[in-house]
Amino acid sequence: MDRMLVSSWFHLHSSVPLSYVQPPESRPGMVAVASGKIIPVVDLGLHDRDEILRHILKASEEYGFFQVINHGVSKELIEDTLNILKEFHGMSGEEKIRESSRDPNGSCKLYTSREINNNKDCIQFWRDTLRHFCPPSGDFMEFWPQKPARYREVVEKYTQELRKLGLKILEMLCEGLGLEPEYCCGGLSDSPVFLAHHYPPCPEPSLTLGTPKHRDPNLVTILLQEKDISALQVLKDGEWIAVEPIPYAFVVNIGLLLQIISNGRLIGAEHRVVTNSGTARTTVAYFIRPRNEMIIEPAKPLTISAATIYRSITFEDFLTIFMTKGPDIEPHLLL
Ligand code: OGA
Ligand code: NI
Repeated sequence: MDRMLVSSWFHLHSSVPLSYVQPPESRPGMVAVASGKIIPVVDLGLHDRDEILRHILKASEEYGFFQVINHGVSKELIEDTLNILKEFHGMSGEEKIRESSRDPNGSCKLYTSREINNNKDCIQFWRDTLRHFCPPSGDFMEFWPQKPARYREVVEKYTQELRKLGLKILEMLCEGLGLEPEYCCGGLSDSPVFLAHHYPPCPEPSLTLGTPKHRDPNLVTILLQEKDISALQVLKDGEWIAVEPIPYAFVVNIGLLLQIISNGRLIGAEHRVVTNSGTARTTVAYFIRPRNEMIIEPAKPLTISAATIYRSITFEDFLTIFMTKGPDIEPHLLL
């Protein structure tokens, strides 16, 4: 496993191993990245809540992606969190594996390339990921890494703050859709997952990807990315748009589950991560997710004047399909 982590061996190579070379149609250069286009930026500090709500709703309907500024999470906490995770990914492979393998049931784990379909015949991706549960109850925390020394303290605080921010955004989206603001606030959102991705420098960025084109298997993702490194791209109308980092901002994107709940009004947009040869990049993703037994279906009020697009499915069944179908999941969700 140690030798499998990209961060353990990337520095030994001056070219990309064959198993990491993407087929020509998936390579970053195949479709030009749109120049001058940006995803919407929403100022959560505005006094007029209705105006914020309209911005968020419009961005989620048109792009499925936006960045938020003045979101209330402190710069210190953001820096602490990024630094702790850079430190984590900078530890030796053995240490990283030890610190992420405490739960025999796998609620905390470290993997490379991607979580699903990851046998050695698949094309690999240029990243390592630490992933663990982070429910508001505090359960599973005994399985989190204990090294770096402040890991649990910092990540606990971070996930508490992100939960508040996430619920605020979800409440506005639900209200904007014409649902009860609290529609998503219970079992649909109380089993969040924390992911810390690490993308080492790559000798041949034009041949590889850090993360393939995908939609997120959740309601909403709130992503923290490092400043100065442009790597995340969103597909809109057949064009890739770069999500340029804004210092201390969060990137928010709609996941497949909210696309289903909104009966297709909100877009779970496709996105991917490209690599670069100069600098390692660390990102922190907070996935708002339901409990396994929750039923995911279009909200009833949204199916009165519009045809129901998606079938009802438990989150557990959704995950099973997602794990096997990957990006081709959508036809399996339709009614
Ligand atoms: C994800 C994701 C983007 C990034 O975690 O689903 O798309 O830049 N991450 O790490
Ligand atoms: Ni994603």
